[in-house]
Amino acid sequence: MSVNWSTFGARAYLEEYYADVGNENLHLLQSLIRAFARIPAHSTILDFGGGPTLYSLFCAATKAASLHFSEYLERNLIEARAWLHGEPDAFDWTPFIKTVLELEGKPASASHIAQRALLTRQRTTRLLHCDASLMRPLPELPNARYDVIVSNFCTESATNSRAQWQDYMTNMVSLLKPGGRLILSTLKGATSYSVGSATFPAVYILEQDLYDMLTRLGFEPNTIEIASVPADRLSRHYQGLMMTSARQHASASTAAARA
Ligand SMILES: C[S@@+](CC[C@H](N)C(=O)[O-])C[C@H]1O[C@@H](n2cnc3c(N)ncnc32)[C@H](O)[C@@H]1O
Repeated sequence: MSVNWSTFGARAYLEEYYADVGNENLHLLQSLIRAFARIPAHSTILDFGGGPTLYSLFCAATKAASLHFSEYLERNLIEARAWLHGEPDAFDWTPFIKTVLELEGKPASASHIAQRALLTRQRTTRLLHCDASLMRPLPELPNARYDVIVSNFCTESATNSRAQWQDYMTNMVSLLKPGGRLILSTLKGATSYSVGSATFPAVYILEQDLYDMLTRLGFEPNTIEIASVPADRLSRHYQGLMMTSARQHASASTAAARA
């Protein structure tokens, strides 16, 4: 299926899904913080398909030697860059940073929020174009490999084809160093999702599909943790969210996954 990505409005998306920290976003942030708690300091971290959103960077910043943010659509990169450059009309992520600090058990005054924002800006050293359909999904850094990839609602929300989802996952995971960790959030039981008046495709997957995909890609079964939360609103055409963290086997091979 070909998707008309020109109708994906960065601001419309932010306003639809990130206008407040509701139940879904609270669980999402909780699971990201839990996952990053076990990441060693000074890791190299990639956000793959970040869209116009920056919340995973707020959770990753304290563990990052460097953070790379990647996204497919130029207009989403522009929106992300606006916040990273501190432009006055950038989206306001303050409630998300405050919640991240509270969930980490840290003080969350205005000055602590400003410090986390500054740390995030300092650690985010590259904004990159990504394309999960490519065997080298970061064309500007074709040989880059990361200790950690965080990716939220990207590979399963970019297609409704299972075969394509498998290719997208394989290509994205090829960016991990051997033994690297994937922190992944996906839609659960989705058929589509809306952005303003436009509708985008999603692959219908449940926990077992995700587990099978991760084992196929060489993630160690005993490290795969999947938590689910129901959707805030049924009108959203998905049953809920699945949040996963898993470590890839040190000898996992992308070539084997592609076979
Ligand atoms: C539902 S949005 C998720 C955005 C963000 N990560 C979040 O947490 O809200 C799906 C994202 O997939 C991106 N995308 C679409 N096609 C892609 C592709 N071929 N490779 C990588 N990302 C793609 C879109 O640009 C969009 O930002």
